[in-house]
Amino acid sequence: MTLAAEPATGPTVPVPAPGVGTAAGASATAVLRRQRLRESAARTYARSFPIVPVRANGMTVEGADGRRYLDCLSGAGTLALGHNHPVVLAAIRRTLDSGAPLHLLDLATAEKDDFTTALFESLPPAFADGARVHFCGPAGTDAVEAALKLMQTATGRSGALAFTGAYHGMTAGSLALTGNVAVKEPLPGGGEVVRLPYPYGYRCPFGVGGDAGAELSATYVERLLDDPSGGVVPPAAMVLEVVQGEGGVVPAPDDWLRAMRRITAERGIPLIVDEVQTGVGRTGAMWAVEHSGIVPDAMVLSKAIGGSLPLAVVVYREEYDGWRPGAHTGTFRGNTLAMAAGAATLRYVAANGLAERASEVGGRIVERLRALAGELPAIGEVRGRGLMIGVELVDPAAEPDACGARPAAPELAVRVREACLARGLIVELGGRHDAVLRLLPPLTMTDEQAAAVLDRLADAVAAASAGVGAGTGTAAGSAGAGTAGAGAA
Ligand SMILES: Cc1ncc(COP(=O)(O)O)c(C=O)c1O
Repeated sequence: MTLAAEPATGPTVPVPAPGVGTAAGASATAVLRRQRLRESAARTYARSFPIVPVRANGMTVEGADGRRYLDCLSGAGTLALGHNHPVVLAAIRRTLDSGAPLHLLDLATAEKDDFTTALFESLPPAFADGARVHFCGPAGTDAVEAALKLMQTATGRSGALAFTGAYHGMTAGSLALTGNVAVKEPLPGGGEVVRLPYPYGYRCPFGVGGDAGAELSATYVERLLDDPSGGVVPPAAMVLEVVQGEGGVVPAPDDWLRAMRRITAERGIPLIVDEVQTGVGRTGAMWAVEHSGIVPDAMVLSKAIGGSLPLAVVVYREEYDGWRPGAHTGTFRGNTLAMAAGAATLRYVAANGLAERASEVGGRIVERLRALAGELPAIGEVRGRGLMIGVELVDPAAEPDACGARPAAPELAVRVREACLARGLIVELGGRHDAVLRLLPPLTMTDEQAAAVLDRLADAVAAASAGVGAGTGTAAGSAGAGTAGAGAA
């Protein structure tokens, strides 16, 4: 079955007729060309998705050429309610019409007050009671920096514990915590970060996998911290993700998380949980820490909390509030529109049970994809929590390792991403070697859209992997083959 990217008049997507034609398509090509020539070599998503979106609604994005796509990237997990949700638009319009100042540094406003109330109401009570919030520069990475500085101030220590596969952002401190060597290597220094093994069952750092691998990780961490010759100076904090997103959608077992909480608490090490990507219902709970019940010392929040506009905060237990005034200041800390959109989003997710919905739909998608893995050996593992789902692509012809994992297949992954785009599906890659397809659809995804995503994804993987492992190398469904390549499969 071959599904081309939907033409503007396609049946399933509720986007109004675009009113664009060949001329618009040509101008889109010019826009893409100008962007390529004028923007930096560090452009990212624009490379993977050479489209010029002109309209978006819910899960659907419409390009200037009139093609429509189901968006499983959702602003890297930012769009909990999809694009331009009516509740979000209404909150923004209401704020604009009210005449409220749009920029006020960190002065007190009704919008900030309301957002803070909505945020604290959404957090686990055991954490929220008596917690403090600091509004940061409007990116996740700044809130990670703030959390680390906060704990450095509180403990008088400088280093940090972070995990293999971690992603915490691109500014100096966050980058030091991040695991990806490729983005760190060209830069001098790396901060005082001790790298610990994250429980990644499929590619287990201990070569055993499963619960046994996670238990070894916990034992290793505990013993390392207690080893007087282990080389670890008492750190300012441990920083972790409950589900590693950019690291390849790797969920940590609840028992392991509880072990990290116990180990850090027993040794007076503050635990910072980075919920930038996992927050606001994404993993099937409002906040991912709720699955294990751990109560961190600080939580870093961004992406979905701004209801699609930029907003980032760190929330922490008040005993750590040792900052002096201005200790983490900045010009853009608390954007009025983002706070209005964010409050509306937090309340809508809670009132409509969207975390439960994410758990239910995500569970069904994972089940279907696992069944598909039985038919398509290029799918090494399907994993995830809620609507944060990863499909790890491997070379089916290669020998599996001791844990049964085959080598990553990054070139195949690129072909699958392209085949998805040709079928009207936006899916980005991540993980080791960029070989994991990452599904981050909006929590509002309908059953019909979930079925369409599965159809298109299954078709794309089958088309792109046809012949791989059967002695034909990497020829099938090659880059740029689009629907023609897919049709041949
Ligand atoms: C877990 C996590 N932390 C921090 C960040 C950095 O956020 P930002 O890109 O807004 O700086 C990201 C971004 O993807 C993330 O996934």
